[in-house]
Amino acid sequence: MKRVGILTSGGDCQALNATMRGVGKGLYNELGSDVEIYGFEEGYKGLIYNEYRLLTARDFSGILTRGGTILGSSRQSFKNMRIPDENGLDKVEAMKHTYHKLRLDCLVILGGNGTQKTANLLREEGLNVVHLPKTIDNDIYGTDVTFGFQSAINIATEAIDCIHTTAASHNRIFIVEVMGHKVGWLTLASGADIILLPEIPYDIDSVLGAIEKRSKAGKGFTILAVAEGAISKEDAKLSKKEYKEKLKNYKFPSVSYELADMIEKKSGAEVRVVVPGHTQRGGSPCPYDRVLSTRIGAGAAQAIMDGEYGIMIGVVNGKIKRVPLEECAGKLKMVSPKDQLVVAAKQIGISFGD
Ligand code: F6P
Repeated sequence: MKRVGILTSGGDCQALNATMRGVGKGLYNELGSDVEIYGFEEGYKGLIYNEYRLLTARDFSGILTRGGTILGSSRQSFKNMRIPDENGLDKVEAMKHTYHKLRLDCLVILGGNGTQKTANLLREEGLNVVHLPKTIDNDIYGTDVTFGFQSAINIATEAIDCIHTTAASHNRIFIVEVMGHKVGWLTLASGADIILLPEIPYDIDSVLGAIEKRSKAGKGFTILAVAEGAISKEDAKLSKKEYKEKLKNYKFPSVSYELADMIEKKSGAEVRVVVPGHTQRGGSPCPYDRVLSTRIGAGAAQAIMDGEYGIMIGVVNGKIKRVPLEECAGKLKMVSPKDQLVVAAKQIGISFGD
């Protein structure tokens, strides 16, 4: 008998249920009554506070196309995992206690970077874990792609497409703010005339130069895709502490509004800001993610049946791969300014404001 725990932690995405379906069906189809799967409510919270339910084969049916997560999710910061809760509870010990009390063989943990760090911590504490790389940000080291990324690209791209027509009608400058505080994969993939990423600090004069160049070429409108974490060259020079200090007195809702303000003041042009925000994480998984999630979920089921733990189920060169957690936990996969996508974009005249 295999006893498996499963949870979804951190920001959600469209393909969490599709991935859990891969795990659940993969195990129930092969093991039948020789497996029990316990779903923890709202991520690590359920594991800490002993909130779970037994998931039958039926729970994994009909959820391929359903966005969100049937288990619920919450952010439990890795930084605070070693800090006792308001009642003095040791969270790590509590998670270990729940795991042992249920006599689990392993925990399947779906989540992004922070979630993965906690999964690795649990591995170091002696628990068997299998991490599945979820995030619309696609910033998990050790896998070519994460589930949720493609679905989010589709939404961000559609938002930019919609803006395209109205921007052209009014000859306006539009800033579309795309999710991604630390990395810009989603912004890069969504594309626009000017792309500003956290990894490539921008210079406002270069941005203005790129707008002017378009206008001289007879293009009356410009669309900028700006990552939530886009940063100017001056700000990039600040220490972390100095930058935090600056943000304390920040009068804009986000970097896009600051940028719009600078462009308007310096060029006199009218600028509109559009923030698709959490729509990028909402709705159904796209066809690509349905297939990817199924492969990753089934890959996890196979690893569990093989008794191989302490791993992330990633995709490397198009193939499902078991990546040791100690090799990837705590690392971010960032956009390199030399990435082929950046080079190709620059080649066709897209500006990165650098
Ligand atoms: O990590 C996924 C992500 O959607 C980021 O792109 C975004 O910056 C962040 O989560 C938003 O988090 P929250 O849902 O907590 O506002």
